[in-house]
Amino acid sequence: MNNAPIGVFDSGVGGLTCVKELAKLLPHEDIVYLGDTARVPYGTRSKETIAGYTEQDMAFLRGHNVKMILVACGTASSIIMSNSSFSENSEPVFSGVVKPAAHAACAATKSGRIGVIATSATIKSGSYGKVIRSINPSAKVIGKACPMFVPLVENGYVAPDCAPTRYFAEEYLECMKREKVDTLILGCTHYPHLSEIISDIMGSEVKLISSSAELARFAVKTLTFNDELAEREENGRIKLYCTDSVELFSENVERFLGEGFESTIEKCSLT
Ligand code: DGL
Repeated sequence: MNNAPIGVFDSGVGGLTCVKELAKLLPHEDIVYLGDTARVPYGTRSKETIAGYTEQDMAFLRGHNVKMILVACGTASSIIMSNSSFSENSEPVFSGVVKPAAHAACAATKSGRIGVIATSATIKSGSYGKVIRSINPSAKVIGKACPMFVPLVENGYVAPDCAPTRYFAEEYLECMKREKVDTLILGCTHYPHLSEIISDIMGSEVKLISSSAELARFAVKTLTFNDELAEREENGRIKLYCTDSVELFSENVERFLGEGFESTIEKCSLT
């Protein structure tokens, strides 16, 4: 048993898709979330800059004595994988989205044709392809960067009939349809907010894998295996931090976390 909170971070509101799933699966856990809203997006920046931001995000969560860190950001997760300063043996244990999502995609695909949509930095890193091919060497992985999705989500353009988002989605997903993928990884944690539009374009026979939901499931397995689940009668507290305006962030929290999840929001500084 361990009643310390679970730490989760992202550049903005993307990681809330992980928080939502986690709070559903483990309602008694306290969660501390950091959205680095002053510096979003991460996905168009250099490896060095993203690694520096990621170090600060993790240090902030360590300062809250979390028992586990969930890197609910595909971009930060990809950079961590190729950077030796993020040691897998560090305390507390941390996990990114890439491995859990790649495993889920390999289990789901029948044709071995797997699509990955993510930020430019994630696609450039080739992170998902590397893990997928280590599990299934004959898999064909088709990657596509979708740089407009993060600003669209951060600004609330997520309704299924939203014309600008649909326009970009049609454009980005054209290659996935042409390549006949049967499984598509939403490799950036902002993208599950667009899953209705994406599924509509891809068709219901294409399985969508949410990287954030897979990370939440991985956390449940790990905490259960390590006997570190919280033990308390009441629901856990969800404490959200952002690095820019609380007012702007609360609008998104209301939109994306939705009803049924009580949370408090505070502004923090990482530098
Ligand atoms: N949600 C993020 C990801 O999963 C970050 C996107 C960004 O900040 O560009 O990649």
